[in-house]
Amino acid sequence: MNKSEIISGTANPTPVAVSVSKLEKCYQDAAGGRQILDGLSLEVKGGQMVAITGPSGSGKSTLLNIIALIETADAGFVQLDGQQVADMGEPQTTLFRRRRIGFIYQFFNLIPTLTVYENIVLPLQLNGIADRGRADSLLKSTGLFERKNSYPDLLSGGEQQRVSVVRAIVHQPPIVLADEPTGNLDDESGGAVLDLLRTARDQGAAIIMVTHSETAASVADRRYVLSKGKLNVFSSAQMSLVR
Ligand SMILES: Nc1ncnc2c1ncn2[C@@H]1O[C@H](COP(=O)(O)OP(=O)(O)OP(=O)(O)O)[C@@H](O)[C@H]1O
Ligand SMILES: [Mg+2]
Repeated sequence: MNKSEIISGTANPTPVAVSVSKLEKCYQDAAGGRQILDGLSLEVKGGQMVAITGPSGSGKSTLLNIIALIETADAGFVQLDGQQVADMGEPQTTLFRRRRIGFIYQFFNLIPTLTVYENIVLPLQLNGIADRGRADSLLKSTGLFERKNSYPDLLSGGEQQRVSVVRAIVHQPPIVLADEPTGNLDDESGGAVLDLLRTARDQGAAIIMVTHSETAASVADRRYVLSKGKLNVFSSAQMSLVR
């Protein structure tokens, strides 16, 4: 909060980081159009973690991809950090994605020709951040330091997933989108990943995590189930919809 904001009283201590409303997404397949998102709305403030569960194929990755500016919705609004993404041009979209969003992909998407360390420092390089100290400490806290010179193909699925998590948060983006971030991990590694996400949340990031893990979902401040194209507030009565 700067001085003029304090004087004018305009500062919002918990700004909305992600706001989507009335999202529609339909995919065409051989049988015709399939409505995946159907008027979906969601709001997440900085410092909040939201967990989304839902059956396979319900559209969880599609939703994250739209928020990450990787895919576009057919209709509806996406506002990130208070900006309507529809108003952003291409260079601005790319810069926003690079600087403001950390994305943990369901299937890792590591760059195979770069080592673990090179994958992890890439967001720092792209954002002009010279200090590599955070990369080293995250490698250590996730048990990856010994593997830093390996290429992704030689890592286990769980190791690749941890690299993907570190790469997503190393530049401290204010919006973190995590697609099954603990899906391939044992309890210990999964716990380390959840600790990283919790720390990012406590430092003010807005986190949206798609997960089938009850342990991971229980870390979130709010839980939703994606079903029939909409988000429903999670209640234990909906447990059967989670998987
Ligand atoms: N580019 C595409 N073209 C056509 N159909 C697609 C495309 N991308 C996704 N789909 C379909 O949309 C539906 C939702 O996919 P999505 O990947 O969002 O599901 P999900 O909830 O993440 O599932 P999972 O839990 O298995 O990861 C699926 O039926 C999928 O086949
Ligand atoms: Mg998915």
